Amino acid sequence: MTNDVILVTGGAGYVGSHTCLALQQAGYQPVVYDDLSRGYRWAVRFGPLEEGNILDTRRLIDAIVRHRPAAIIHFAALTYVGESVLDPALYYRNNIAGTLSILEAMRETNLNTIVFSSTAAVYGTPSLSLISEDAALLPINPYGATKLAVERMLADFVQAYGFRAAALRYFNAAGADPEARIGEAHDPETHLIPLVLGAAAGHRKTISIFGSDYPTPDGTCIRDYIHVLDLADAHIRALTYMKATADAKFLALNLGTGQGTSVREVIDSAQLVTGRHIPLDLTARREGDPAILVADPSRAKKVLGWSAVRPSLETQIRDAWRWYQARFDSDSRATLLGTK
Ligand code: UFG
Repeated sequence: MTNDVILVTGGAGYVGSHTCLALQQAGYQPVVYDDLSRGYRWAVRFGPLEEGNILDTRRLIDAIVRHRPAAIIHFAALTYVGESVLDPALYYRNNIAGTLSILEAMRETNLNTIVFSSTAAVYGTPSLSLISEDAALLPINPYGATKLAVERMLADFVQAYGFRAAALRYFNAAGADPEARIGEAHDPETHLIPLVLGAAAGHRKTISIFGSDYPTPDGTCIRDYIHVLDLADAHIRALTYMKATADAKFLALNLGTGQGTSVREVIDSAQLVTGRHIPLDLTARREGDPAILVADPSRAKKVLGWSAVRPSLETQIRDAWRWYQARFDSDSRATLLGTK
């Protein structure tokens, strides 16, 4: 058990808030640093909120000096592939310059340990369907390019300034806190599972399947869905690892289950879990979607002793559905009470 304070940038977002929950359960004291531009105040439940933008280096330094964290877990980033194509400047500023600002604040305050929220998007459209960390790093959109640039920046800071840094490359985050206190909430929502649940709840007319002519058994894209609490657990293990090891090499690890699930299988599973019929239509492929993206998670197992403990898609969808319903209920309650 530890009492360490951990500064969590982007802790009001989806993966960030679940990591705060896991940190608190592991005995850490999470402090959220978030400007609430994409995250939510209601998602900050497991420690205090420092409202601020990561580009504001002075504000970051002030928060670090006051809270004295042992490390930073950095989630604060813009994460829409489509938006990154339309407005790359926004992504380069927030994701790359924003991270540089955090690293400068860390140097100024002699803080040297950071876990970074990276993504499978750094691989682009890999030729192999089971992706190891040695696969070529060839992002195909500005979002993936900014995440890769940050990884390189971290590796250079490890080399030059003795930083300790781990980049965790998530495949498809799914699920929610089983107690439904927090969960996935993007605005606009573009991710498959919440959209499917929206269709199940009757909040959307249909779910569109983007492409049914892929070279996969049922013609739809295959992804590796990983429970958000499994992701959260890997961040805590990365902290422990970096604290314990004398080896200060930059670490990049895939986080996935190693199992692939097609879009159709997601919809079938959601129909089973919710007991609702989900109307669907088949539409054209979405640009930039690789047919198959599945992690080889063996390095994370070897280095951190980590593997997914909630690999079942049904569990992930069940947790996401519980959260979806709780959120909808409280939203309508808030609307009724005039507090929303
Ligand atoms: N899909 C549909 N219909 C929809 C939404 C999605 O068929 O309405 C399909 C997509 O084409 C894809 C799959 O469902 O095949 C999953 O799509 P998501 O948008 O949920 O997730 P992505 O795989 O596109 O994105 C994830 C992360 C991104 C990251 C990307 C890297 O959410 O942050 O993986 O490949 F950039």
